[in-house]
Amino acid sequence: MINYTLKIENLSKWFGNKIIFYKVSGEWNKPGIYGVAGPNGSGKSTLVKIVAGLNSQSAGKLEHIVDNSPVEPELWHNLTGFASPYIVLYDEFSALENIEFIFKIRGVKANYELANELLSHFSLYHRRKDPVKAYSSGMKQRLKIIAAVMHSPPLIILDEPTANLDNEGKDRVYEVVEKLSNDTIIFLATNEKHEIQMCEKTINILEHKRD
Ligand SMILES: Nc1ncnc2c1ncn2[C@@H]1O[C@H](COP(=O)(O)OP(=O)(O)OP(=O)(O)O)[C@@H](O)[C@H]1O
Ligand SMILES: [Mg+2]
Repeated sequence: MINYTLKIENLSKWFGNKIIFYKVSGEWNKPGIYGVAGPNGSGKSTLVKIVAGLNSQSAGKLEHIVDNSPVEPELWHNLTGFASPYIVLYDEFSALENIEFIFKIRGVKANYELANELLSHFSLYHRRKDPVKAYSSGMKQRLKIIAAVMHSPPLIILDEPTANLDNEGKDRVYEVVEKLSNDTIIFLATNEKHEIQMCEKTINILEHKRD
């Protein structure tokens, strides 16, 4: 198992003169589910995008560390999984082609056994050859979760993982999250009470505001 540590120190973000969050710090090196909470527009997505390397901070330090050595930001995406309602899949491609392509661009060894298991778990196996443009929003969301976890990264970042999902779909996500949390650091940005309750520790963005 990879010895992974995520470390943030006084991380702050502002757009123009508007402070979104100020001085968020923490260190995560044990598997588990960790929350990022706050109302709509408070900055949850902004924070997790920075953690994933999809956006940059205005101030403060962020490190992804493997065995005591910081990982180059260009390699973060191989070691992390990220799912959110706003990332896009390749609409013209089937689920299977998306999976193949995403494995390829990550430059990691493809694990089709796990990918197929996940497709079945999320009731998409029988639709795996259909183009994603023919999927419902809930089906797309389930495929995004698959894409975020299928390379078994040590850090998984989920922004509103159950957006667009019915109760059945939500339960499927919770089963995967619970199982992976035994050996994976999982960051969960959410507004859902039940999901916050699943987290052992939660950053509340509202505690990091400043005028
Ligand atoms: N690129 C940007 N330029 C300017 N302001 C931005 C930008 N991205 C986000 N914001 C602002 O940052 C604040 C936080 O947005 P963010 O999307 O992080 O909130 P959130 O907590 O994820 O909300 P939600 O629960 O609705 O998903 C909002 O006021 C938003 O308008
Ligand atoms: Mg958001």
